[in-house]
Amino acid sequence: MKFVFALVGLVLACLVDISVSKDAALETVSKHGQLSVQGVDIVDESGEKVQLKGMSLFWDVWMPQYYNKESIDGIHDSCHSNVVRAAVSVVTEEDGGYIETPEASLERLYAVVDAAIEDDIYVIIDWHDHEADQHLDSSLEFFDIVSKKYSGVPNIIYETFNEPTGQSWNDVLKPYHEAVINVIRANDPDNIIVVGTPTWSQSVDQAAANPITGQKNIMYTLHFYAGTHKQWLRDTATNALNNGIPIFVTEYGTVNADATDPVDEAESRLWWDWLDEHNISYANWAISDKLEGASALVANATSAEVCLEDFLTESGRLVVAQNKA
Ligand SMILES: *[C@@H]1O[C@H](CO)[C@@H](O)[C@H](O)[C@H]1NC(C)=O
Ligand SMILES: *[C@@H]1O[C@H](CO)[C@@H](O)[C@H](O)[C@H]1NC(C)=O
Repeated sequence: MKFVFALVGLVLACLVDISVSKDAALETVSKHGQLSVQGVDIVDESGEKVQLKGMSLFWDVWMPQYYNKESIDGIHDSCHSNVVRAAVSVVTEEDGGYIETPEASLERLYAVVDAAIEDDIYVIIDWHDHEADQHLDSSLEFFDIVSKKYSGVPNIIYETFNEPTGQSWNDVLKPYHEAVINVIRANDPDNIIVVGTPTWSQSVDQAAANPITGQKNIMYTLHFYAGTHKQWLRDTATNALNNGIPIFVTEYGTVNADATDPVDEAESRLWWDWLDEHNISYANWAISDKLEGASALVANATSAEVCLEDFLTESGRLVVAQNKA
């Protein structure tokens, strides 16, 4: 009898475990395959809702040491991620970016994308710019090159414009995204494209009022930093969802919007609860060893040490726990 109870208990525990386990590291590309957008959700090849959880890399020109296979292995295995975001710098004041050195930028990007494919995780190709509307020719060239190279590879997600600032959605951003989407779709008909929204990718309500039409598998970027952005932004985003706008959090921090301390654990939990309730995918800013609160890694962590427990910061530890929760 005792044995039977124990057995029932064990079976129940397993069932519970399976139904609540959302360790992102186990939700791989070979399990889910080609993603698409249905309503406000990402669904997999068999129509099941999928949530991606993982890490964003830092601007590639400033943290090239993490744009390699070793680091992506750590992001999957030890940061329990099924998505990584490559932040391709477009222009920086001192250190250039794609516009100045396209070959070097592509080389770093390809190292990350190829590693993600090998490691069976999804990868966001992020045009990491605040003024992408001023660099349209370069955007079109870049997305043409990468969507040709990775056409039909199910791991790929495109992000056309990291964080617009004050640009108008209707007059500037929507036409910009449509131009980029057309270039990508000529090469890659299916993979998800995430488009940036006004005010550092917070004003999803403006996109909801005038969404991109006549295209499939389009999502809208929401970024938040828990120390700065609170219930009011979740309310804005909930309204946008209710208006049918699919949201992808391609970048979030547990700290203030300027990436500084302190870690706001309580507010981060409110965000994670909200994201999980809505099955929204998210990537944490950032795989970085810069001395600032947002960094997941301690100073001087090497690519071989990425996400190993001894090399995680306060923020990094919380984020990893969340990725495997
Ligand atoms: C989130 O996904 C789960 C699993 O598919 C589903 O049961 C739940 O209804 C979804 N939540 C929402 C808000 O769609
Ligand atoms: C990181 O490396 C720099 C340069 O070698 C060194 O000055 C600094 O003390 C190191 N920081 C830590 C926390 O180890």
